[in-house]
Amino acid sequence: MNERATLKINGKGHLEIGGMDAVDIAEKYGTPLYVFDEEHIRNMMRVYRDTIEKEYGGNGLVLFASKAFSCMAIYKIAAEEKIGVDVVSGGELYTAVKAGFPVEKAVMHGNNKLLPELELALDNKIGVVVIDSYKEADVLDKLASERKIVQKVMLRINPGVEAHTHAFVQTARTDSKFGFSISDGAAKSITEHVLGKKNLKLLGYQCHIGSQIFEKQSFVLAVGKVMDFMSEIKSELGFEAEALNVGGGFGIWYNDEDPKLKLSDYADFVKTMIDAIKEKAARNSLKLPFLYMEPGRSIVGEAGVTLYTVGAIKDIPGIKKYVAIDGGMFDNPRYALYQSKYSVILANRATEECTEVVTVAGKCCESGDLIAVDVPLPEAKSGDIMAVFSTGAYNYSMASNYNRNFIPAAILVKNGKADYIIKPQTYDDLIRNDVLPDRLK
Ligand SMILES: Cc1ncc(COP(=O)(O)O)c(C=O)c1O
Repeated sequence: MNERATLKINGKGHLEIGGMDAVDIAEKYGTPLYVFDEEHIRNMMRVYRDTIEKEYGGNGLVLFASKAFSCMAIYKIAAEEKIGVDVVSGGELYTAVKAGFPVEKAVMHGNNKLLPELELALDNKIGVVVIDSYKEADVLDKLASERKIVQKVMLRINPGVEAHTHAFVQTARTDSKFGFSISDGAAKSITEHVLGKKNLKLLGYQCHIGSQIFEKQSFVLAVGKVMDFMSEIKSELGFEAEALNVGGGFGIWYNDEDPKLKLSDYADFVKTMIDAIKEKAARNSLKLPFLYMEPGRSIVGEAGVTLYTVGAIKDIPGIKKYVAIDGGMFDNPRYALYQSKYSVILANRATEECTEVVTVAGKCCESGDLIAVDVPLPEAKSGDIMAVFSTGAYNYSMASNYNRNFIPAAILVKNGKADYIIKPQTYDDLIRNDVLPDRLK
């Protein structure tokens, strides 16, 4: 684990999160359960916000990419920390609105935003919409005109930078469903198109090169390419962008193939990017753009730990030992999607030596329903509490009721206290929207 003051092994040899013993948590709240460390979330939000303040004179806004973890509590925390959010659907926006989030600090993304989503965004006075298609630009201009407003927009563009990460989470290659490419002239054409819209105000450009990235150089390269493009647009079209959105993508620790980053390392990422922006602006005679960045995974990822109870154990001699838990791909589909790697411990026997290598399997009717493959553990017994680290991002938000399993509840822990932020589902929740038409009664 990436140990910190709020994530450690206590004197009983148990995992402790936010001052609470994980075994006590499991007993009180049941498993499977998502546990979120509030202090870590706030510290991560602050490190981005404060670095922009310190290194860029506060000329920017951190947007929490809420696709990583969307629920009312997280929008409330973001608001308290005075940062913005990025939303990618009507559902995320609605959740933010219901949490009382100041929507002028929200930015909306999506490669195929639906009409009702754009309407909801405008009706709630969204700060910025990041346009990703001609059709969207046309629709948005019309909606803005009907409302007699001028909507602030940015354009999602592809600088053509390939970050070293999983192909499914690389997004800024020329072959991507997202954004307009710089290299084939698409980014310039859409700029001209949007500049011609009376009810849209183009602020500048957004790019997002991928996720789970550790190389600062990838970000520097992307920033450089976008700023060069901004300079080209200034001289060719006379439009000088006033804002630049560099997306998210900073990596976190999942297992020991990943570095264990500290808060200061994230500050360093941001500073490196800011330095690159300053240098490019000076070289290209551009004014310093207002800076947006959209970290998601790095804000909530390591703040989350999922607790499970060990159930069936199946040893296939000479082949594999499966340790089954009471969760699975319905609460964490990331192994099934990306073969993502996770680190696991027995939270109730955290100081015991690992004596075997096992595969942690879920309870769904799918052979691919695995959580961690070939991981070291002490000999697990039915009833042990298993903790899977770094499950705060893209776990709850990707969860489903597959096999009509319950999406686990989530609690927020801080200073030895816990509160539900997502309450447990019941069987009635599962059939809430089911309907039996007359002919089936
Ligand atoms: C446009 C955009 N911004 C931000 C993010 C957040 O990225 P991460 O969670 O890696 O920081 C994503 C993730 O897919 C994204 O598509």
